Amino acid sequence: MTEIKNPFITKGYISKEYFCDREEETADILSAINNGRDLILYGKRKMGKSALIKHVFHQLDNKIISIWVDLLPSVNFNDFLTLTANAVLSAFEEEDPLYKKIWAGMKKLRPTVTYDEVSGTPNVSFDLSDTSARIDTFSKLIRLLSSSSKKVVIALDEFQQIQEYPEKNIAEHLRTLLQSLPNVTVIFSGSDQHMLLDMFNKIDQPFYEFGQHLKLGPIDSDKYVDFIEAHFKKNKRKIERGDIYNIIEWCNHRTMNIQILANRLYSLHQKTITEADIQNMKDTILKEKEDIYYTLKRVVSKGQWKVLSAFAREGKVYAPYGKAFMQKYGFTNSSIIRRVVQFCLDKGLLYQSHDGEESFFELDDVFLRRWVEMTTV
Ligand SMILES: Nc1ncnc2c1ncn2[C@@H]1O[C@H](COP(=O)(O)OP(=O)(O)OP(=O)(O)O)[C@@H](O)[C@H]1O
Ligand SMILES: [Mg+2]
Repeated sequence: MTEIKNPFITKGYISKEYFCDREEETADILSAINNGRDLILYGKRKMGKSALIKHVFHQLDNKIISIWVDLLPSVNFNDFLTLTANAVLSAFEEEDPLYKKIWAGMKKLRPTVTYDEVSGTPNVSFDLSDTSARIDTFSKLIRLLSSSSKKVVIALDEFQQIQEYPEKNIAEHLRTLLQSLPNVTVIFSGSDQHMLLDMFNKIDQPFYEFGQHLKLGPIDSDKYVDFIEAHFKKNKRKIERGDIYNIIEWCNHRTMNIQILANRLYSLHQKTITEADIQNMKDTILKEKEDIYYTLKRVVSKGQWKVLSAFAREGKVYAPYGKAFMQKYGFTNSSIIRRVVQFCLDKGLLYQSHDGEESFFELDDVFLRRWVEMTTV
């Protein structure tokens, strides 16, 4: 097992020892894979979608080929193809006999091949000029995989990215292809505020009713407290359970922020972490981000900043255009708020979510929210 110095990791996935809970979601995804159901995994940013997929992949036996493709850097279908092909190659050990077969098949698709100077592993890229050639090559690549006797699961992470591609009808082509391969299961994943859900929920969209939906919410607080306390204890350090609950609350239950704060507190190398240490660490983190936040304040208009600060102070805003909210924060014109809300949603500063049937707005960046709350700006 990989030994690391700080058990609170702030990127990627190492092993289940450093991964908190998600037992139900893991079981749901495993069941979908084992029963050949495609899955749409969505949730707020930084909640842990990518890490969960990797966690699930770590539990699969070697009868299943698991491929994780991060589509975030892709801007067209050529990139999609290149990223998928490289993800396919890195899904195998080089000594795996299937790797040789896949590699031989992939070379027939005429990629440009370069080799990593250190490890010697191949890296492929495609530069096909027209859309139909790109789609045809992708189709051959996927069919190559599905022709093996093994079951295949492909995670297309940040799938909403395909909406940015200039090629037409990509979603239609993908749907037709992916639907025709019974031994290939697909996990589509992305943040809900990135229109991922529109692609699967709108009746006029090719992926309408395509697969099972799984919304990733926050980790159960009791389980997160157990996890954090246990890792401190393991290294003979003490942190009060009540203080950990407060940390989770302060981080608005966002996994990434909780991990960052826990990581920083753990790195103090103290026998006991006091409430004052936690407060100091929160201040330090916000101070480090201050330049970015002041820049943001400079680039938005005064009016936009006023709305943003009101949202930060309020937390969850259910009725931004209602009398109560407007009076509390000194607004007189609801159409201005409406415009700013749209602007902030487009820029990813705000997101819209639901508590049951009630919809609300909230600042996406938890630390920004805490900074605005704290500063008298
Ligand atoms: N269950 C968990 N236990 C401990 N750490 C976790 C857990 N889930 C995620 N993390 C950590 O939280 C951080 C954010 O997770 P991740 O990148 O998977 O989120 P995401 O939802 O995919 O984010 P994005 O919206 O940017 O794609 C990472 O550092 C990851 O290691
Ligand atoms: Mg992710």
